[in-house]
Amino acid sequence: MKAPESLKPLSREEEPLLRNLVADRLPQHIAVIMDGNGRWAQRRHLPRVAGHRAGVQSARKVIETCVRLEIPALTLYAFSMENWRRPKAEIDFLMHLLRDYLRKELPLIQRNNIRLLVIGRHDQLPKEVRADIDRAMEQTAGNTGMKLAVALNYGGRAELVDAFNNILDRVRNNGLANARVDEKMISDHLYTSELPDPDLLIRTSGEMRVSNFLLWQIAYAEIYVTEILWPDFSRAQLFEALLDYQKRERRYGGLAEARHRVTA
Ligand code: IPE
Ligand code: IPE
Ligand code: MG
Repeated sequence: MKAPESLKPLSREEEPLLRNLVADRLPQHIAVIMDGNGRWAQRRHLPRVAGHRAGVQSARKVIETCVRLEIPALTLYAFSMENWRRPKAEIDFLMHLLRDYLRKELPLIQRNNIRLLVIGRHDQLPKEVRADIDRAMEQTAGNTGMKLAVALNYGGRAELVDAFNNILDRVRNNGLANARVDEKMISDHLYTSELPDPDLLIRTSGEMRVSNFLLWQIAYAEIYVTEILWPDFSRAQLFEALLDYQKRERRYGGLAEARHRVTA
């Protein structure tokens, strides 16, 4: 496994966790609902935005660790379409944080050969945020390492609506009157068309819901919910999530190996 730049050596707590991971059974795509920033700050009597700032550090650690583990794809839920319901000051701070992140982290993203994708409805984002996103996506377009998708102004239902409208446009423009929709066609028109479906969905801060995230893609994802708040989510916690994932038996509606004999 490669050691990306800036990665701290493993601690005594982390080392045995990493050693127990089976390299060829790691997920191909991890999706993360990074939740609990506000609660983290409130518990420290800090403003909510301090939690968002601390959350950026967790995102950096998770990204670097996934590069080190050679995970092909990582999607981070950064801002949902529903998050516009928050106070303007919090939204402005989040947009500022994102721009700051893109500007400061781009060299590290480049050096780690990460290809950045931003998924969601870009057109409804502030102009300057859009410009930063476009630049970052352009500059990393040729990278061949991990695909990092940041979900921004993202909604799973909106993504499906956009996919269906794109399909309709194609049908109309190409005179495909007899075309029929199938699952592949839908997957191919999602924002995530270049990514495999997530194998593992992690949500921090204990909420047992998907909050409109990757609705189509998580059909058979393994779900891991931890009480840990996102700013406290460390490399060790990611290893724990992966170990838990590796213990799961993924049956996809079939039967486990040992139970294939139907009769006695
Ligand atoms: C997740 O943390 C970050 C975003 C949604 C942008 P929250 O801000 O939702 O934190 P809680 O859930 O209020 O603790
Ligand atoms: C989901 O968290 C969205 C992100 C992590 C960006 P929320 O905090 O917005 O979700 P709800 O409101 O608890 O469902
Ligand atoms: Mg939340």
